[in-house]
Amino acid sequence: MSTIESVLHETRIFAPSTKFVEQANLADIEAYRALCAEAERDYPAFWSKLAQQHILWHKPFTRVLNDSEPPFFKWFEDGELNISYNCLDRHLANQPDKIAIIFEADNGDVNHCTYRELYQRVCQFANGLKALDIKKGDRIIIYMPMRIEAVIAMQACARIGAIHSVVFGGFSAKSLHERIVDAGAAAVITADEQTRGGKNHPLKATVDEALSMGDTDSVKSVVIYKHTGVDIAWQNNRDIWWHDLIHGKQGECAPEWVNAEHPLFTLYTSGSTGKPKGVQHSSAGYLLGTMISMQWVFDYKPTDIFWCTADVGWITGHSYVAYGPLAMGATQVIFEGIPTYPDAGRFWKIIQQHKVTTFYTAPTAIRSLIKLGADLPQQYDLSSLRLLGSVGEPINPEAWMWYYTVVGQSRCPIVDTWWQTETGCHMIAPIPGAIPLKPGSCTLPLPGISAAVVDEAGHDVELGKGGFLVIKRPFPSQIRTLWKDPARFKKTYFPEDICGGRYYLAGDSAHRDKEGYFWIMGRIDDVLNVSGHRLGTMEIESALVANPLVAEAAVVGKPHEIKGEAVVAFVVLKGQRPHGAQASEIAGTLREWVAREIGPIARPEEIRFGDNLPKTRSGKIMRRLLRSLAKGEEITQDTSTLENPAILEQLKQPVS
Ligand code: WTA
Repeated sequence: MSTIESVLHETRIFAPSTKFVEQANLADIEAYRALCAEAERDYPAFWSKLAQQHILWHKPFTRVLNDSEPPFFKWFEDGELNISYNCLDRHLANQPDKIAIIFEADNGDVNHCTYRELYQRVCQFANGLKALDIKKGDRIIIYMPMRIEAVIAMQACARIGAIHSVVFGGFSAKSLHERIVDAGAAAVITADEQTRGGKNHPLKATVDEALSMGDTDSVKSVVIYKHTGVDIAWQNNRDIWWHDLIHGKQGECAPEWVNAEHPLFTLYTSGSTGKPKGVQHSSAGYLLGTMISMQWVFDYKPTDIFWCTADVGWITGHSYVAYGPLAMGATQVIFEGIPTYPDAGRFWKIIQQHKVTTFYTAPTAIRSLIKLGADLPQQYDLSSLRLLGSVGEPINPEAWMWYYTVVGQSRCPIVDTWWQTETGCHMIAPIPGAIPLKPGSCTLPLPGISAAVVDEAGHDVELGKGGFLVIKRPFPSQIRTLWKDPARFKKTYFPEDICGGRYYLAGDSAHRDKEGYFWIMGRIDDVLNVSGHRLGTMEIESALVANPLVAEAAVVGKPHEIKGEAVVAFVVLKGQRPHGAQASEIAGTLREWVAREIGPIARPEEIRFGDNLPKTRSGKIMRRLLRSLAKGEEITQDTSTLENPAILEQLKQPVS
């Protein structure tokens, strides 16, 4: 399935149906253009109006954008607000009994939680955190299953001004440890175990392991939500049960008013070095981004049943589970499990049962569900759906067409949303009532978002030509810095050698077609996108060389039918190059090693062994060659600078 190839030849156009347009928040391209023109005319006034419309301010702002120290931009900087107040308290007067969350557990149990109940539970837990002496500005690691409590923990942090850092439950003790140390966390919130696909996986034991790895003295408390009830190790004076912590606590907790620029959270993501980056977001600008995109891209209506399938461990679960839908007062589904358990009809069953109107998922899930049961959706009543969404990686036109015709029954627009952990909310995505769709294109930038495709000097490239995807002007929801590392922030996103450091560099390449539509072509750095998750090749390489058997390793991606991209590792052992059964055995050991070091998402699909890696005479690994080898392509590149061409023959062979 060659995404880029098929994308280049895609010419189909799908305009929204009259029925969709009639009810849309933004119903024609002129309305979209008018908003873009408004932003163009007076950029600060455009954002100022939106920030006043959408956010409840404790103290109104008077300054919109402070760009005096680029790239450290500040938005609404003298305003004060509280994010949890904006997500919960604001709904108490007019819709306290509206269901905020329909929770479906892995085993199918369903619970409903109204806005009033959610408010009380968040307040109670916030009071619990205060009792642990957690204060504004403290960092809290959240390592939780995908349950209501994860959202409660995040909202409770926001309520007291603590900065949360959610770590996906699939990450290893070592990855967790790295994040705890970098954040200097005061507490970890976790559960005994998580349940996915009928299986339980430890969380608390992993936290214990992470906390035994050193440099974690900052952590004074570990709060444990009792989920499966399994026996866990206990450390007095540090560990406390969630239910004990909230016992007797008030269901009211005055919000801590924070400055607009106060960090709401950090979220670690992979980059081109071995060390994950702590992406730091603001409070007001971030919230505004999630709200306007709910309104524009998801065409949000109070009657919607919104379902974003992402885990809160990723940015999508932050913006479109924990914050955006709640700020809008939406009813949303939260699902603990996986799409294929107990069978590949699970998503469709949930849509049918809870009458989901807006469904947002990743291309990798769509592709695996096509494979496991292309006609399964037809066995369910999906007539409640009115809008579909896609995120995390390019969606190939084949998967797009299936999603459109089989799941959406040719009735629902698909919003293919391009954005990143760093951008906080959608950047390039169709406004579904206004913008005709082309399968595989994320279409046009949102109003106010100055996305462009440029060359190294920062000039717009001709339509049809590939280049760097950048955002030219600062925007409210953008990353503020990397936690404790402003120099790396500047170097990564505003590098001097590309566009002279003037533009936000996304790290993707893209081109625009003659209608100006954007087509994302892939990363320009050493970041892989495996099943919609970002993985740094350097991170996997460091994990491999940490194994005592390994002398050297190079990791590249290769196209994969379901995952989009798969990890292929080329490894040189300290001992002899292994053959036959021994090679398979060592490959198996190394795959598990990586899964343990980083997390199962990083487990290499394939490992190949060589006596050496292909290098130039100056010692640089020739990654382009490795990518060709991984794909099984004939080597057509110039190999004359290669030190030892015989290596290529060895590395052609996958270990069986
Ligand atoms: C890729 C996820 C094509 C892209 C929200 C980006 C996409 C990275 C799309 C960010 C899309 C995300 N089409 N590619 N609709 N959405 N990407 O930080 O390479 O986990 O830079 O954020 O995913 O991944 P992240």
